[in-house]
Amino acid sequence: MSFVRLPFRFTRLTRSATRSSWRPTAIGSRYMSQNINRDSTMGKAAVPLDIEPSRLTVTKTMSPKVLPPSKSLIFGKTLSDHMLRIRWTEATGWEAPSIEPCESYRFRRNFYRYVSSYVLVGTINLSPSATVIHYAQSLFEGMKAYRHEDGTVTMFRPDMNMKRMNTSAQRLALPTFEGNALLECIKELISLDRQWVPKEPGHSLYIRPTLIGTNGTLGVAPPTEALLFVITSPVGPYYPRGFKPVPLHGTTEYIRAAPGGTGAYKLAANYAPGVVAQKSASKQGYAQNLWLHGPEHWLTEVGTMNLFAVIKDKDVTELITPPLDGMILPGVTRDSVLALARNHVSGVKRLEGLPDVMKVSERPINMGEIIQSSKEGRLIELFGTGTACVVTPVDRIGYNGGDVMIPTGKDGMGPVSKPLWTELVGIQTGVIKSDWNYVVAQ
Ligand SMILES: Cc1ncc(COP(=O)(O)O)c(C=O)c1O
Repeated sequence: MSFVRLPFRFTRLTRSATRSSWRPTAIGSRYMSQNINRDSTMGKAAVPLDIEPSRLTVTKTMSPKVLPPSKSLIFGKTLSDHMLRIRWTEATGWEAPSIEPCESYRFRRNFYRYVSSYVLVGTINLSPSATVIHYAQSLFEGMKAYRHEDGTVTMFRPDMNMKRMNTSAQRLALPTFEGNALLECIKELISLDRQWVPKEPGHSLYIRPTLIGTNGTLGVAPPTEALLFVITSPVGPYYPRGFKPVPLHGTTEYIRAAPGGTGAYKLAANYAPGVVAQKSASKQGYAQNLWLHGPEHWLTEVGTMNLFAVIKDKDVTELITPPLDGMILPGVTRDSVLALARNHVSGVKRLEGLPDVMKVSERPINMGEIIQSSKEGRLIELFGTGTACVVTPVDRIGYNGGDVMIPTGKDGMGPVSKPLWTELVGIQTGVIKSDWNYVVAQ
């Protein structure tokens, strides 16, 4: 816990606004299944418990923050008022979830009443020997909540994030959990902070569930204690001034993932080594790394996005993405783009603007094929997909000392990515009805 003395003016304002709200509230009664398996003689859990939404408690912040103007939002800089926290120990399993203030100041007056201060609450205390610090026992997820025109707040396919989070947890020997139970708790968090879901088009509330090993030990072993927490942050559109295609650096001197490694999981350890590679690409005038694998320079991912190429062969337009071979993160956006394109091909739902004759392939593709199709005028476009941007068009690839030019459309997007993007964003913002939307608040 840190103690911070704030200027007098700030002290008075925040205090009066929030005094009454510092009270934990159990919301357990709302959930009927209070199925806590306890040993009545010992008072200890007989079987380690799973996450129980029925045990969720809510402690509201005493000093609500001021939501910054949407125009000034910088990705990930502003955290909303509350966070979700669930501790786990090997002996007891998942403890009661709690929603608490997140990085907020609490007024504190000392016994003699003439010295007062603000205390920073809603932080995380760790042992200096916590395994997350030394051995990167950490994984995370990234998803978004959107506000629809009628005020409804939804999340986009969060079940997939819960599934991926559990897969990542298994890979790190961190505890797994019932995905729906965590989702119930996240729903409560977003419902409480719903004013943090921006109203402006293209804006959303970014949600970051994180799981870390917290036990203090310098031995490398499976964690015996862990902490799952969820923070949220309002974000603006990825492209505030329209689509801007990005140049990629075909990267072979660094790798993001290798066979048998951890590229298919969303582990914190996958991201730190990419920073130097990104810096190097940026120094050479490129926005992102195009991660190339092996002597054949197979295309894998773009920065922190999945990758799609579109190549025409006679009358057939082929949408290609590398297969989930253990090196590729199974992106929610990737899966959604594939599903929409396959529905178009099969006729389940035709999308206006997509080519009539299309083929959807999850298959390896290397730089040789990109260069060849580019030379023959058959390379139609290349784009990245991810939660943050939905779609990012690419206009060139720096490779072997030269640049491979990629066609882009008038407004920056290509003929295949544009209709797919339009449909996806239409669903996420509630303009198009879809069971991919999970309602958080109405
Ligand atoms: C390495 C990597 N690949 C792909 C993606 C895209 O995944 P999603 O569509 O689930 O956001 C991400 C984004 O989180 C990522 O970090």
